[in-house]
Amino acid sequence: MQEMKARFSKDLAAATTAEAVEQVRIAYLGRKGEITLLAKNTDFSKLSAEEKRSFGSQLQELKAFAEESLKAAKESAALGKSAKKSTGLDLTLPGTGRTLGSLHPISLIQIELESIFQGMGFTVVPSPECELEFYNFDAVNIPSDHPAREMQDTFWMTNDMLMRTHTSANQVRTMERLGVPLRAIFPGRCFRNEAVDPSHENTFYQCEGLVVDQNISVANLIAVMKTLLSEIFHREVTVRLRPGFFPFVEPGFELDLRCLLCEGEGCSTCHGTGWLELIPCGLVHPRVLECAGVDPTRYSGFAFGVGLTRLAMMKFGIPDIRLLNAGDIRFNEQFPTFV
Ligand code: DAH
Repeated sequence: MQEMKARFSKDLAAATTAEAVEQVRIAYLGRKGEITLLAKNTDFSKLSAEEKRSFGSQLQELKAFAEESLKAAKESAALGKSAKKSTGLDLTLPGTGRTLGSLHPISLIQIELESIFQGMGFTVVPSPECELEFYNFDAVNIPSDHPAREMQDTFWMTNDMLMRTHTSANQVRTMERLGVPLRAIFPGRCFRNEAVDPSHENTFYQCEGLVVDQNISVANLIAVMKTLLSEIFHREVTVRLRPGFFPFVEPGFELDLRCLLCEGEGCSTCHGTGWLELIPCGLVHPRVLECAGVDPTRYSGFAFGVGLTRLAMMKFGIPDIRLLNAGDIRFNEQFPTFV
């Protein structure tokens, strides 16, 4: 009977539904249940009076125990069922996953660039997207009759302000605000009235850099550019300078990166030239310094304009610039959440 009691308790504990509890009841207390049969099949005539009493009371006890336990188990199974009904809670359903958003590829590049430049002692300066005509053009040596204005048509406000065409618009503002010497970058959005195609957008991102101090030379410019590119591409890089014209630098350069895919041999990425045109730059034009009230006989500097959009496309292999601003979540989700 001790063994039967233990087995009964074990079976009942495993029964979590009302139906399962009923099965246990039938197995032990049903017409052919083990406890019922135990009482029925025992030959009492073979027992002494003392044994009869002891057996009878043990059997009674076992039966009472089984009935009590079954009653309690039935009640709790029923309770479980009604709780389920009232809350609609079904613990067997799969959970609702929480997904984290991801960062936009431009943000990823911008954050990376900011941290590289901060490591070289640069300040990250915020800059307005809607700008005075003066800062966008005149202050960077592009007077109103200059042909360079034609290449940078943009969206004009009714109050003579415009959506800035380049981050260079913030050069003179920054010198006025922070004074010299200075080391700063200003990343941000720029706008142009472009015919949109896979490599041209009306809205794109640049990161301007400006260093002004005494005795700044092209050597400083090259050193900073090489450090930047080695960090971005995680390897030593080779660069070269070609003459380039921008009204706000003199001399002005196009900085090319030796193609990382073919190591300069010539491939489809570099159009067989072995070089990728990457960063326009130069030594700050004395007129720009003067415009900011800085004495060009004491100070010199260099400036550069990194195309953030172009860099993001190169780094992540994005084939069409229009994907960046399209707001298609399937595109955005492919980028990591953290830098
Ligand atoms: N602002 C120029 C553009 O958008 C890029 C540029 C060229 C910036 C030369 C510079 C520079 O600072 O030195 O086309």
